[in-house]
Amino acid sequence: MGTIVSSKEMLLDAQKNHYAVPAFNIHNLETFQVVVETAAEMRSPVIVAGTPSTITYAGADYIVAMAEVASKKYDIPIAIHLDHFEKIDVIKTYINTGFRSTMIDASLEPFAKNVAIVKEVVDYAYQFGATVEAELGKLSGQEDDLILHEKDALYTNPEEAAEFVMKTGIDSLAIAIGTAHGLYKGEPKLDFERLEQIRKKVEIPLVLHGASDVPDEMVKKAISLGICKVNVATDLKIPFANAVKEFFKKNPEESDPRKYMTPGKVAMKEIVRHKILVCGSNDRY
Ligand code: 13P
Repeated sequence: MGTIVSSKEMLLDAQKNHYAVPAFNIHNLETFQVVVETAAEMRSPVIVAGTPSTITYAGADYIVAMAEVASKKYDIPIAIHLDHFEKIDVIKTYINTGFRSTMIDASLEPFAKNVAIVKEVVDYAYQFGATVEAELGKLSGQEDDLILHEKDALYTNPEEAAEFVMKTGIDSLAIAIGTAHGLYKGEPKLDFERLEQIRKKVEIPLVLHGASDVPDEMVKKAISLGICKVNVATDLKIPFANAVKEFFKKNPEESDPRKYMTPGKVAMKEIVRHKILVCGSNDRY
């Protein structure tokens, strides 16, 4: 491999062969390492995602550098992805830094404004061979500083979705069918019929946000009905943090990051493995 790739080819392959590429949200070197190492071991394509505050925290140039190293080290496709970015200028800057996959999230805007914002990003990204995901419909829950009340959540309309894809020229579409960012109060209810209708009207890869805390069988069903990218953040953060907390309970005096980060990485790796199996993206390369 050797180069940071866009998410285009990997998502089209997933669509053709009825599996999903997992997109894992990372925050630092350790979580980046866990994701790419595990994906490489399992021969899975992978998308390493960062929200705006993550990229600010870790540094876009550091993330690009890590991805360059990983792309040389492992012969699986690795994309780094800007997740839930809302500012066009910031996306342009990070594409210039080396990102080749982005989400422009204007889903809170009215349809026409959403289209106009997304189109501007698509036109820019196209020059760099970068892929663009956009969202139509609104997810409940919290992702970064985007907060919505569940009652305001609005599912994706299949007819609008077709028009949106046609007018924007995006590469993949994030849809709202009942998932939410973060943990659920009860069992999530996914609108599979709506997903089927969207799939019939939209030809590009479909993306499921908020896949943490959704039962595996539901995620698998969504993939069987046309989801090609599955976003996971919360399900990685909690076990990582819990393992580190547990470590400090037993070793309150420890100060060596190599010691206290390792149990977090081990716990996270287990989940990354599991999610790759749920996505069916293993042994694809
Ligand atoms: P979760 O935190 O619910 O997994 O959502 C992740 C996500 O959708 C990132 O875009």
